[in-house]
Amino acid sequence: MTELTQVNAPIYEALRRFRRMRVVPFDVPGHKRGRGNMELTEFLGEDCMNVDVNSMKPLDNLCHPVSVIKDAEMLAAQAFGAANAFFMVGGTTSAVQSMIMYACKEGDKIIMPRNVHRSAINALILTGAVPVYVNPDVNKQLGIALGMSVAQVEQAIRENPDAKAIMVNNPTYYGICSDLRRITELAHAHGMLVLVDEAHGTHFYFGDNFPVTAMAAGADIASVSMHKSGGSLTQSSFLLMGERVNADYMRQVINLTQTTSASYLLLSSLDISRKRLALSGREIFAKTVEMAEYARSEINDIGGYYAYSRELINGDSIYDFDVSKLSVFTLPVGLAGIEVYDLLRDEYDIQIEFGDIGNILAYISVGDRKRDIERLISALSEIKRRFGRTGADMLSHEYIAPVVTEAPRKAFYADKVSVPLDESAGKVCTEFVMCYPPGIPILAPGELITQEIIEYIKYAKEKGCQMTGTEDINIERLNVLK
Ligand SMILES: Cc1ncc(COP(=O)(O)O)c(C=O)c1O
Repeated sequence: MTELTQVNAPIYEALRRFRRMRVVPFDVPGHKRGRGNMELTEFLGEDCMNVDVNSMKPLDNLCHPVSVIKDAEMLAAQAFGAANAFFMVGGTTSAVQSMIMYACKEGDKIIMPRNVHRSAINALILTGAVPVYVNPDVNKQLGIALGMSVAQVEQAIRENPDAKAIMVNNPTYYGICSDLRRITELAHAHGMLVLVDEAHGTHFYFGDNFPVTAMAAGADIASVSMHKSGGSLTQSSFLLMGERVNADYMRQVINLTQTTSASYLLLSSLDISRKRLALSGREIFAKTVEMAEYARSEINDIGGYYAYSRELINGDSIYDFDVSKLSVFTLPVGLAGIEVYDLLRDEYDIQIEFGDIGNILAYISVGDRKRDIERLISALSEIKRRFGRTGADMLSHEYIAPVVTEAPRKAFYADKVSVPLDESAGKVCTEFVMCYPPGIPILAPGELITQEIIEYIKYAKEKGCQMTGTEDINIERLNVLK
């Protein structure tokens, strides 16, 4: 057998071979290569339906890989500098949940910044693990939560030497990184695992001027959204592991919640995208950064807007910055980020990644063209001229430090009552409230509801943030502890 290298894509190659075999399907999926659902086949194309197949010997099985999936995972591990890698088909959500389920069982403590994605707090409900939140520093001007400072992590370790793991965002949605190397050293010195949410950091593995990757920093497990900057299909991700992680046990943990019918569309997209990044990732992301830098400089020349970058670095809670991100502070033009987000879509047919209270994030990738970037810049300039106002009534901060009274799992499953939002101050919330994106909870189960939080929720609703998490779809009532 010839040795596999990064030019190979074993799942993709197996699917191509399989297509030529013309096997008669008496198995699921029931659309039988698309013939049983012609409208869908016309929509998605025969080539796509042909490879929407189930696990079988020639194609391996994600739950217990022994051939082409195993090979593809080995190539992914090599490309990302990991000891092992798993293909994930339930989004980075399932990767984040699996790494926490690996590290913690009921009652175990995990140190994490509070500005984690909801998937991490969901995992605390699933496992019964108890969070030790590190409240991130906040940049007062931009109103955004930053990374964890090393001193905060040291203090959390000192006060909780029995914690099993530390979780780190690398980077945050806005592109901000903590000192991952130092945090990893500290955690390991105290026998704790380091779990890294790299949903927004896939490209760090393929460039010289990006922040350090989880695997290079010596972290134990990383959840990497290939479907974000890596170019694979939506919902496909990698779980990367370092040497000290028992990959076979991790597979069992993943299989607790993973589908037994993994999509070969997603698996092949991961395989092909890994090959593409391994062969040309450096070139791809160099172009991405060039476009982001150009956009940043032009947007800053408009005046008012602030497209921020590495000048924010402070050696600690902003240890590094991801220059491929185009995060823009909008409040100086008198518009909330969410208002600019809506105006871009409604008036200029431009869809950006997210807008929150004070910022927008435009996702730049190699798929962008110079003329699209010019369109974004001129739309922002026009928005300022047509809709800009003085920012007197604007709320400025994105992060309110929570008061945690119960562990998330206990609160989520506790007896509860539903109360009007305006009457909820002083009560303990049993559900999530968040703007999506970015999906960082404003309130999580077990946290005290304060008047400040109520005002924040009302403001976010009024500005048009897409709110999620509550049982009441209109977010007029909240579930609280009885
Ligand atoms: C920081 C972070 N972690 C995890 C996730 C979950 O990723 P997915 O949507 O692939 O499940 C997201 C999604 O946006 C995210 O922003």
